[in-house]
Amino acid sequence: MFAFVTLVLVLLGGPGASALDNGLALTPTMGWLPWERFTCNVDCLEDPENCISEQLFMQMAELMVSEGWKDVGYEYVCIDDCWLASKRNKDGTLKADPKRFPSGIGHLANFVHSRGLKLGIYQDVGTLTCAGYPGSFGYYDIDAQTFADWGVDLLKFDGCYYKDIESLVEGYKYMSIALNRTGRSILYSCEWPLYSRPFQEPNYTEIRQYCNHWRNYGDILDSWSSVKSILAWTASKQESLVPAAGPGGWNDPDMLVIGNFGLSWDQQVTQMALWAIMAAPLFMSNDLRHISPRSKGLLQNKDVIAINQDPLGKQGYRLRKDKNFEVWERPLSNLAWAVAVLNQKEIGGPQKYAFSTSALGQGLGCVPACFITQILPVKEELGLYTWISLLKVLVNPTGTVLLKLQAYQPDEYSSHTTGVGFVSNNDTNDYSDYDDNNATSDDIISIITVLEPL
Ligand code: GLA
Repeated sequence: MFAFVTLVLVLLGGPGASALDNGLALTPTMGWLPWERFTCNVDCLEDPENCISEQLFMQMAELMVSEGWKDVGYEYVCIDDCWLASKRNKDGTLKADPKRFPSGIGHLANFVHSRGLKLGIYQDVGTLTCAGYPGSFGYYDIDAQTFADWGVDLLKFDGCYYKDIESLVEGYKYMSIALNRTGRSILYSCEWPLYSRPFQEPNYTEIRQYCNHWRNYGDILDSWSSVKSILAWTASKQESLVPAAGPGGWNDPDMLVIGNFGLSWDQQVTQMALWAIMAAPLFMSNDLRHISPRSKGLLQNKDVIAINQDPLGKQGYRLRKDKNFEVWERPLSNLAWAVAVLNQKEIGGPQKYAFSTSALGQGLGCVPACFITQILPVKEELGLYTWISLLKVLVNPTGTVLLKLQAYQPDEYSSHTTGVGFVSNNDTNDYSDYDDNNATSDDIISIITVLEPL
């Protein structure tokens, strides 16, 4: 019991330390990142459409505006590895590959800014980037200044080819300070805990002070087993991860691979729902030129994005694992909760899961009552529930049902109200709707009548 109470307090507490003081990432960052989909394709002769080149980023920027991505919040067009020339300039400054980025990064930044978007770039704390291009080690100040001069808005700082754990940690800190010193607002995306964990348990209080988000776990792949392993790992470490997240600093479970090849529809729904629960940065790694309307609709779903971007800024957690079902929940602003029910069974058809609302929102999600909306896989008003209702959902194999619970606030009602019951046919205390969970909006009107708003 003590352990459970402690876990609850830990998970509900705010972040243990102040965030990096650059005023950025007050909600999880949203944007596009090529790595998972385009990797290190540098063959612009054979594959000009898909190679890492300025053309690719310009096309994505155009589409982010014309196809509604920007309107729903995707803002950062990011460059990942393999943009560099094989050597620095003679003066030590970085240089983009002249063939693939003939106009240079400054020009690309202007282009992206002219579309109302922001540009992200990639470098590495060590001597080489993960793909073997010149790293920032020994050049932190010069590189930070170069990025600022070019008009870069985000730096993803990888952790390959570091000398030792001390230089890795010091390098991440140093680059944060160097970016800050440039005077330009540059969001700082780290992989510090991912690389330091083999040597020491990450100190998230410290990491939060230097980074706007941080990768904890290995690279995502375009597969269900990869998404599944990220979820399992995150749940296993949630006692330390969840309190670390908050406005200004977020755990980063890696890119969204929705719209690619490896995830079924239900698995795409699961990724979107759980990335919202985890308050994850939403970096799509897909081809915005070729994406199905269904995947696009999922990635642009405003209700899910609103959960991800909730201003309270608390990360959700796995509440329970019940055979093949997992229930996750996340506190939201205005006494609301997001709840995700994931069916891990990889055989059979849709499965029913029934559980009491009293388990949700730390026992308070539906006190005295709540209105529940199913957000995914399709939007549906489920109606009004009390704190002791039985909630039933039907979940496809490897799929997720995402719900939003909106609590009624007792102080909005007169003090003589001691409880709340469903009212059907104008009869107070008729619990028939509670029994079959068929509360409708008529019931809400009735309930409000009974509760006599002040
Ligand atoms: C690492 C990172 C990836 C990607 C590649 C690029 O593996 O974790 O996200 O940036 O490097 O080489």
